Formats: sequence, C-alpha cells, structure tokens
Amino acid sequence: VPQVVYIEADGQQTEIDAEVDDSVMETAVQNGVESIVGECGGSMSCSTCHVYVDPRWAAQLEPIDELEDEMLEGTSAERRPSSRLSCQIAMTPELDGLVVQVPESQV
Ligand code: FES
Repeated sequence: VPQVVYIEADGQQTEIDAEVDDSVMETAVQNGVESIVGECGGSMSCSTCHVYVDPRWAAQLEPIDELEDEMLEGTSAERRPSSRLSCQIAMTPELDGLVVQVPESQV
C-alpha cells in the first residue's frame, strides 16, 4: 500500500495509507487531513487542493496540463515551481512515500 506524507504549514506530519488510483486530494479528504479541502471534488476548478510536491517525486508525476497550470496561476499567489493540484495526482505503488506540503493559506 503506497503511503502519502502530508506536511502542514506548522510542520505537523501525517502519514496515510492510500488506495492505488485514489488522488492525493481524495486520500487527504477521506483521512481527515483538513487543510486539503478538495471543494470541487477534483474537477480542477477550486484549487483548495494545492500542495507543494517534494522535489524527489516531482519527476515521477504526470506533467502539469494546461488547465491545471491556469488554475494554479489564477488562484494562488503562493505558487512555486513544485506546486500541483493534489486532485490531479493519482497514487501508484511507485509513489509510495510521496511527500506533499500544504501551503500556509490553507491551514
Ligand atoms: S479539488 Fe478542486 S482543483 Fe483539486
């Protein structure tokens, strides 16, 4: 079972067992990581699932598509090169140990 490590802006870490194919957003919502809201249910129209992906995993993720790029650009003053919408990251066995950090504004 692949694990996801969520790091809140205050440094608190939560490790959660993810179902393969669930998104990083769904995994958070189903397991009480409250700083990831996932308001739109994963349809890329809210950006309340914004996270910073640890650079060690960045290369293993699907590239950002145009819509995700626009959402990140339009809604987040806190965007960084490692920014992703966590509803667009589907868990795979290879992503075991994935570390994502929640932006300060979402806490
Ligand atoms: S859950 Fe709304 S954009 Fe990801």
